[in-house]
Amino acid sequence: MIGRMNRIDSPHAARRARLAAQLGAGGIAIIPTAPVQPRNRDSDFPYRPDSYFFYLTGFDEPDAWLVLTADGRSLLFCQPKDAEREIWDGYRLGPEAAPAALSVDGAHSVVEIDALLPRLLENTRTVWYPFATHPGLESRIDGWLQKVRARVRYGALAPDGQRDACALLDEMRLVKDAHELGVMRRAGQISARGHIRAMQRSSAMLRAGQDVREYHLEAELLHEFRQHGSQAPAYTSIVAAGANACVLHYRAGAAPIKDGELVLIDAACELDGYASDITRTFPANGRFSGPQRTLYELVAASQDAAVAATRPGARFNDPHEAAVKVLAQGMLDTGLLDRNKVGGLDDVIEKRAYFPFYMHRTSHWMGMDVHDCGSYVEPAEVGQVSERRDPLTGELIKDRPSRILRPGMVLTIEPGLYVRPAEGVPEAFWHIGIRIEDDAVVTESGCELLTRGVPVAVDEIEALMRA
Ligand code: GLY
Ligand code: MN
Ligand code: MN
Repeated sequence: MIGRMNRIDSPHAARRARLAAQLGAGGIAIIPTAPVQPRNRDSDFPYRPDSYFFYLTGFDEPDAWLVLTADGRSLLFCQPKDAEREIWDGYRLGPEAAPAALSVDGAHSVVEIDALLPRLLENTRTVWYPFATHPGLESRIDGWLQKVRARVRYGALAPDGQRDACALLDEMRLVKDAHELGVMRRAGQISARGHIRAMQRSSAMLRAGQDVREYHLEAELLHEFRQHGSQAPAYTSIVAAGANACVLHYRAGAAPIKDGELVLIDAACELDGYASDITRTFPANGRFSGPQRTLYELVAASQDAAVAATRPGARFNDPHEAAVKVLAQGMLDTGLLDRNKVGGLDDVIEKRAYFPFYMHRTSHWMGMDVHDCGSYVEPAEVGQVSERRDPLTGELIKDRPSRILRPGMVLTIEPGLYVRPAEGVPEAFWHIGIRIEDDAVVTESGCELLTRGVPVAVDEIEALMRA
């Protein structure tokens, strides 16, 4: 169960008011939370509320719904008090206490929702709910609307429009408010401490001649996350020794971490509903070899270029393009790419010749979800479509202008380089996988990195791993 939130008044009420103001005359929004997910017999996955619902309420119990009307009135449906169930499952807020605790205007038991929702939908014009996110929600809403229609001969009006609440909420969530940035800053600090702890454990165990496994370092991360109040990792931790780093979605396993190898850790905590997302790559023994250092410094330079490109007014794609430029030039300089075969920098970029070594994007939105919601296309420019053929696949791509960055948007900056054995690729670089990832909030003048509590510079990593 995610920790009970105590700060559930003003930011959530302010967000509800902003949403209500966008529902239009006669609008009503219905936002359910997430269901409990069974894991196996009599055992559930740890509960996490739906991000939209939690964004608007700060309420973390399952079986709850928010109903919001355009006049700003908010109603919560929640689990009723139940002395017996509370012995088994723990405290329930209950509808009587909910208005004061959550600053909603009213609350009912969720048991009454099928009886009350048709009445609430009567005489409204547009029903807003999150499309395609909750299996079964559409048919539930259909059932309520049928009941409204059954009453039209008594003079009731049935709503004649349905709209996707995600369209409004995604835009709201894309620009973080002060409360959100405060939580994300703390999440970033905790995650950074986890990385430092894992790095230090690696070199200390190797110095002591111990058998280091990926799970030993994962344990350090989890310890630090929980130690500082994080409820859970924000995503499945990647702790990848040596060649495993070239598997992009590798999970922390039991592979040995050997002296002389690099370790790639992509792991971070969720705190009070907000994710962080950090990757660091470091030498298991605390000292980079020559080839490791060469490629590492190239990725670090590409990240510097991407960070410099992350500022208000720039486009979402600009950091990616800046990183690709540095990486592509580095691939030519280090011999990963053969100039005689691929040509110069412009050719490498235009033909995507860098793709075998850098096959993912540099950024994604971050917030409550580690890959957070929000359109990557600038809304005012969706009609500006240009077509091109992908140089590698021949696929027809429709490009639209990418999003213009604004203060309060949070994105990751995570360039990498992954070298699998291949003909023509210098053997000294084989099996090296490197990614460096930080979380950036766009500010008035540039960006603030939320995750630099763990260093990136070679010398600083080596120093802390000696400690
Ligand atoms: N940790 C997930 C990602 O970097 O996108
Ligand atoms: Mn990421
Ligand atoms: Mn990551």
